[in-house]
Amino acid sequence: MADKTQKSFKCIIVGGGIAGVTCVEQLSCRLSSADVALITADAHIKAVTNYKQVTKVLEEFNVEEQSSSVLEEKFPNLTVIHSAVKALHTQSHLVETADGQVFAYEKLCICSGARPKLLTQDKQYVLGIRDTDSAQEFQKQLSKARRIVVVGNGGIALELVYEVEGCEVIWAVKDNAIGNTFFDAGAAQFLIPMLEADKPERDTPCKRPRYTTQDAKPGAAQTFTADRNTRGRSCGPTESGSALGPDWHEGIVLKGAERASRRVSVEYQCEVEKIFTSEEMLNSPSQTNRPDTEGTWPVYVQLTNGKTYGCDFVVSATGVTPNTEPFLQGNNFALADDGGLQVDDHMMTSEPDVYAAGDVCTACWEHSPLWQQMRLWTQARQMGWYAGRCMAARVLSETIELDFCFELFSHITTFFNYKVVLLGKFNAQGLGADHELLIRCTKGQEYVKVVLRGGRMVGAVLIGETDLEETFENLILNQMDLTLYGEELLNPNIDIEDYFD
Ligand SMILES: Cc1cc2nc3c(=O)[nH]c(=O)nc-3n(C[C@H](O)[C@H](O)[C@H](O)COP(=O)(O)OP(=O)(O)OC[C@H]3O[C@@H](n4cnc5c(N)ncnc54)[C@H](O)[C@@H]3O)c2cc1C
Ligand SMILES: *[C@@H]1O[C@H](CO)[C@@H](O)[C@H](O)[C@H]1NC(C)=O
Repeated sequence: MADKTQKSFKCIIVGGGIAGVTCVEQLSCRLSSADVALITADAHIKAVTNYKQVTKVLEEFNVEEQSSSVLEEKFPNLTVIHSAVKALHTQSHLVETADGQVFAYEKLCICSGARPKLLTQDKQYVLGIRDTDSAQEFQKQLSKARRIVVVGNGGIALELVYEVEGCEVIWAVKDNAIGNTFFDAGAAQFLIPMLEADKPERDTPCKRPRYTTQDAKPGAAQTFTADRNTRGRSCGPTESGSALGPDWHEGIVLKGAERASRRVSVEYQCEVEKIFTSEEMLNSPSQTNRPDTEGTWPVYVQLTNGKTYGCDFVVSATGVTPNTEPFLQGNNFALADDGGLQVDDHMMTSEPDVYAAGDVCTACWEHSPLWQQMRLWTQARQMGWYAGRCMAARVLSETIELDFCFELFSHITTFFNYKVVLLGKFNAQGLGADHELLIRCTKGQEYVKVVLRGGRMVGAVLIGETDLEETFENLILNQMDLTLYGEELLNPNIDIEDYFD
């Protein structure tokens, strides 16, 4: 093996998504004279731009697909290698790439992300959305579709059902409310009417214009191309492209074959039992499979609630699986239940000198009582940043403590055109019966939920322009006893900021 080694690096980072790129930036800043390599399967990298700290813990930023030469220009001692890692030898500290090269490292950080769980391997009728290629495929198929079945209840499903027009959507969720990964039943109830209303015209231009759409011919399938450079497809397997980030659907016209606007039916508390092609359906002797829908369809989905729907295709948005495969063979990584590489409070895996960050890892340190891991853009950046700092600290023999950003969970996003802020144990995660909820809801305008434990605020959901995020963040961080305030806490006639100044 050693004789095949092409080059040695102080640090190698695998993956050009947000976690990997942020890690590379931190490392290259802190160890400017060290040889650093970024190995990525994708032709482009993902860079964080316009980073803005909104409050102590809330952050906002844009994500841009860039050519890797931008990074190399910024950091002269950085080498970007475009190939997929196909094997790792942690004992000998070597990585092998798909194009046959071998590299030695002193420290390695795995940031290979995750891919959508698919219901079946049947790529013809079941789509997962993850990167620009799969989004393009989705858009192409949608333009010919009259009905699709969306399975899953996370952020991607939520955005998808809201954005799709001109195509009937059957939305199968396993919970008793939509958006359960992010919301409780109350918030879901607040959002449901938005699925029936017409979408407001988009008056603000897309903040992160990553794609441009072009009408080929009126009515014909739409094509879209990345606006930076045309995507090169020569580098590595396409299934390992970077995950799309916030606003992935912006600028991609998600329009079906029908003229009518949105038509969404939600099937609650069910999962997919079976997927049939139309042939299998015809040849099936069992009457139980008889579809609940008329006409013939390319594919049929049987749900666990007994209903069977015919549709043009199925979108699988049921969560992700960490991309660990190329790294496992011959090594001894401790894996978490969700399939991620276990990392400790220094982002170290169980293998010597191997770190991990972003969607591929599972945070296995003892969490702050107000934080939980979710595979989100913000956490990919925070983990990549912290992993880079930890690696540099180790090289420089410095000590470093778990970063403040892991004290309090925070996420800011948009669902159904509303600003959404999630703080701490926003869904009373892990609290059991030991909590209290305060809710204020103005139909069509705002939804505010506070989670209290022992009279102290431990989480909040803020939908709409509530202007409460900073005050609530402080109340959660300082764990002030709020028993005296009771429901007054959400009294809209009280300026809560003045209360606590
Ligand atoms: C459709 C969609 C919508 C989303 N929307 C949101 C949202 O609104 N808000 C939010 O916060 N989060 C969202 N997410 C989640 C977010 O995109 C991810 O949490 C984030 O991208 C994870 O970053 P990462 O750097 O860990 O991994 P990724 O961005 O997946 O990057 C992984 C990188 O590793 C490379 N790679 C993989 N395998 C190999 C290998 N063997 N060798 C070399 N390179 C390899 C890939 O090419 C890629 O560059 C969404 C995800 C999807 C799929
Ligand atoms: C790159 O590394 C060399 C030593 O290996 C160092 O002298 C040089 O300053 C580094 N370049 C930058 C831009 O830091």
